[in-house]
Amino acid sequence: MNSSFRKLSQEEPQKLKGKRALLRVDFNVPQEDGKILDDSRIKATLPTLRFLMDRGCSVVILSHLGRPKGTVMEKYRLTEVGKRLEELLQKKIQKLDVCIGEEAREAKKSLKNGEILLLENTRFHIEETENILSFAEELTEECDFFVQDAFGCVHRAHASTEGVAHFLPAMMGFLVEKEVDTLKNVFEEKKSPLTLVIGGAKIDTKIGVIHNFLKIADSILIGGGLANTFFNAKGYDVQESLVEKDKAELARKILQEAGEEKCRIVLPRDIIASKEITNEASTRVVHRKNGELLEAGEKILDIGPETIALFKDIIAQSETIVWNGPLGLFEYEPFSNGTKTIANAIASASATSIVGGGDSIDAIHRFAIPEHQFSHISTGGGAMLEFLEGKILPGVSVLRKNTEW
Ligand code: 3PG
Repeated sequence: MNSSFRKLSQEEPQKLKGKRALLRVDFNVPQEDGKILDDSRIKATLPTLRFLMDRGCSVVILSHLGRPKGTVMEKYRLTEVGKRLEELLQKKIQKLDVCIGEEAREAKKSLKNGEILLLENTRFHIEETENILSFAEELTEECDFFVQDAFGCVHRAHASTEGVAHFLPAMMGFLVEKEVDTLKNVFEEKKSPLTLVIGGAKIDTKIGVIHNFLKIADSILIGGGLANTFFNAKGYDVQESLVEKDKAELARKILQEAGEEKCRIVLPRDIIASKEITNEASTRVVHRKNGELLEAGEKILDIGPETIALFKDIIAQSETIVWNGPLGLFEYEPFSNGTKTIANAIASASATSIVGGGDSIDAIHRFAIPEHQFSHISTGGGAMLEFLEGKILPGVSVLRKNTEW
């Protein structure tokens, strides 16, 4: 799909010189008490920013932060993000408290080559999420071209992710190019055996991915709350476990389709159960596959040792591994072993390994697994899932319909 899209990396340098770039990034980073907890999304945009500055462009940055729903909320200002960006770039950047209007227009006009202007959170305006074109057009004022580097929100058809591209020559930045290439290759240059490791709580957000992978994957390893929904669909009493009982039919359909597609869906054979969710909880292994039952009041909170061994075996034999979602309630020590061991197994596998989703990335950090041991850690949660589902990503697809310089 990628070849038909316009890319910053392929633009002729002389065309860029002296131009003003409008750069959409995803600086939606987790913060607590005004402190940034994880700056990976900011770091991930540095190659594009440095490239633009080196080519003699000035850069106007747009981003959202949180979901302020069209109102100005102090905690969602981009001020801290701007300071972090200054530290990372070792360069002064100008930050405004607005993203449109006279002040923004004047600040853009007075930018010199190599300078950066960070505008305020676009979601302080309701027109952003409603993709109102007059708002999008105003965002593009005084800019010469648009660079899409906000992979985390290319699944949103918002004014600053999609709308703006109708008014300027538009192209993907280095981060979006890398994300799209990597994820596309899972399908287009498939290296088998391909294994999808999928966990987390809700089937709704993962069902499309499982569905799409039934056609291409050799194995789908299911853990986390998601597995409970499959257990319930198979008639196993999950007692007090997190479960989506109304999704039983859907889960049964997937199991049936997997059989038809010759994709092996592997559900946990044994599970870790407990009646309480604390760091001191006592746990026991329940061999579901041998017919052992949960006791009243018990919850399934992790995958058991036999399952871990089986999953590790399949991972070791894979050529491609895609992982999204934890396999247990890893935030609590008694239920962390499954996610920790499988994350380490994926990290040390010789296969191409692709990881995404905020919880999986949190797990990698919590267990101090070096990021470089994975082939690719996606900056997109929802965006990665939608790509893997085979959905059109509006913030990418719009980059093709574009006017020339
Ligand atoms: C994300 O963090 O997944 C992206 O920034 C998109 O945010 P949203 O789900 O609020 O649109």
